[in-house]
Amino acid sequence: MNKMMLKISTGLREAGMHPQIIPALAGVVISVFAACNGSNGSSGSTAGATASTDGKTIYQKTCVACHNSDGMGAPGMYPPLAKSDFLLADKYRAIRQLLKGSSTPVTVNGTSYTGMMPPQPLSDEEAAQVLNYVYHAWGNNGFTLNAADIKAVRDTLK
Ligand code: HEC
Repeated sequence: MNKMMLKISTGLREAGMHPQIIPALAGVVISVFAACNGSNGSSGSTAGATASTDGKTIYQKTCVACHNSDGMGAPGMYPPLAKSDFLLADKYRAIRQLLKGSSTPVTVNGTSYTGMMPPQPLSDEEAAQVLNYVYHAWGNNGFTLNAADIKAVRDTLK
């Protein structure tokens, strides 16, 4: 058994896989698992995609490169969104962050991040959906926004 595990991890390393990738892969497996669980818990019907499904699709297209599919970001570079005290403390800050981008250093869960987040070219509806996904994914218990919330913030930025 142990030999087998050793062989797998040596194999991964020989295949050029960086050891850091392995926990990342595990994260993907866990979130796929969680997604399956979620749909089992519902009526089982896939008709009528919910806003959070769309938000997840947008997340995976536009945010995942930096914040990771498990919402954990990248150590020292991109802050986590999963259980982020910074994110969950203020309903409007994340909207401004999305619409305007930011290079003001932020402290998330006690760690400071000094990188730059580019403005995200999303419609009001898309921004609401992706934030609703982020606010409720990975065990987050955050806010629920609609397109009017986004528009209200967008108007203050003009
Ligand atoms: C190119 C990389 C990149 C992309 C793409 C990106 N971000 Fe960020 N994000 C960052 C960085 C870097 C910071 C820290 C910025 C700062 O210091 O002001 C950040 C900060 C944040 C924060 C506030 C800090 C926290 O962890 O709570 C939120 C919320 C956030 N991003 C959400 C998103 C969402 C949602 C998307 C997709 C729509 C996204 N980001 C796309 C790099 C990125």
